[in-house]
Amino acid sequence: MTNILLIGHGAREDAIAETLKKNKDAKLFSFMKSKNPGISLLSEQIEIGSYSDLESIKNFAQKNKIDFAFIGPEDPLNEGVVDALQDIGISSIGPTKLMARLETSKSFTRELLDKYKIDGNPKYKVFNKNNLSEIKNFIDEFELIVIKPDGLTGGKGVKVQGDHFNTKEEAIEYCKEILESHQAVILEEKLDGEEFSLQCLTDGKTVVATPPVQDHKRAYEDDKGPNTGGMGSYSCENHLLPFLKKEDVKKALEITKKVAEAINQETGLYYKGIMYGGFILTKDGIKLLEYNARFGDPEAMNVFPLLKTDFVSICQAIIVQELGRIKVEFEKKATVCKYVVPEGYPNKPVKNEKIEVSIPKKGKMYYASVDEKEDGLYMTGSRAIAFLGIGNNLEEAEKIAEEATNSVKGKVFHRKDIGTKELIQKRMEHIKNIIE
Ligand code: GLY
Repeated sequence: MTNILLIGHGAREDAIAETLKKNKDAKLFSFMKSKNPGISLLSEQIEIGSYSDLESIKNFAQKNKIDFAFIGPEDPLNEGVVDALQDIGISSIGPTKLMARLETSKSFTRELLDKYKIDGNPKYKVFNKNNLSEIKNFIDEFELIVIKPDGLTGGKGVKVQGDHFNTKEEAIEYCKEILESHQAVILEEKLDGEEFSLQCLTDGKTVVATPPVQDHKRAYEDDKGPNTGGMGSYSCENHLLPFLKKEDVKKALEITKKVAEAINQETGLYYKGIMYGGFILTKDGIKLLEYNARFGDPEAMNVFPLLKTDFVSICQAIIVQELGRIKVEFEKKATVCKYVVPEGYPNKPVKNEKIEVSIPKKGKMYYASVDEKEDGLYMTGSRAIAFLGIGNNLEEAEKIAEEATNSVKGKVFHRKDIGTKELIQKRMEHIKNIIE
């Protein structure tokens, strides 16, 4: 038997739990912030608690004789959960706090790429309270800029000129606001192109890519409305995306491999876990938007159900740094994931609203921000349930995902356009206009 500690409470962790449990020897012990019914069903034992309560996590791990831990979200990584478990002899899939800076500090990553001469950085500059006066000059250099707080913001702190603010004065005000709670703020030229996620597994020496996925950040159809954690995503049966060529994916993987090497040279340590690169295809080629030290949510749902290789063996190989010996394979299928979210999400979501859920006839369902109480299932205010369609092509997968969303009754909405021909066509035209 292999006792695995799974940390996290969302749909991403529900998909990870399902994948780990395909191995008959896997026993799951799950530590989560709120009770996810999907993960609970798959677990031998669960504990509800805070991700900053490292003592409780350690006690739960020791009590259940854990062989290794899988860390789902970024918050526990930022709290140093991997270091804490390491102190009691438990290895994790997930980087230590120092290495999780790949996600938790945007300035660390940008400067690492520069120092090791790795392609992918846009023009950028890091500002803090001491050089704030130079912001004006930087803004003047570019038509449009992006402002990123140097720290975790749940994917919602990034502001784009033209979308979230317009003038130089507004930009400076936002930077000042960020510096009240963060050490630094990063200003970058705004890149035009199509974004994609390349989620990679690594033991620090070998880097293996999962199929690329495109997420949809905006809350409403046709990419309108405020930014969210991601309303849905798709991947294609040829393990490319309609606007991506093989060499584009190769380039993104090459950047990630060089970053893994650079982290080793910089720290003397090996990064073990997930390197999820948010990339963008631009007229100047592939650029890096950011790295995350965990799987994407919803993007994890697009790749895990296609994994043909035993995931427990992959995790064990990462721990002993023998990932290079494993052939990691994915089914050649298309996937579409659609999130059902509370009305008003993301800015004013209804909370503690009960929903009725039935199992969809086709497609998969993963629980996210819901709380299972004695009298039923309640939404907690963030994305509630993810539905996944898998098919021989996008059309099939989209149809399955869309139909599956009907399984939820309550004060909810979702984006019907994700994975549709019309939206994909728009993406293709966008990239054609940029590149030609
Ligand atoms: N889908 C965006 C993220 O996981 O950060």
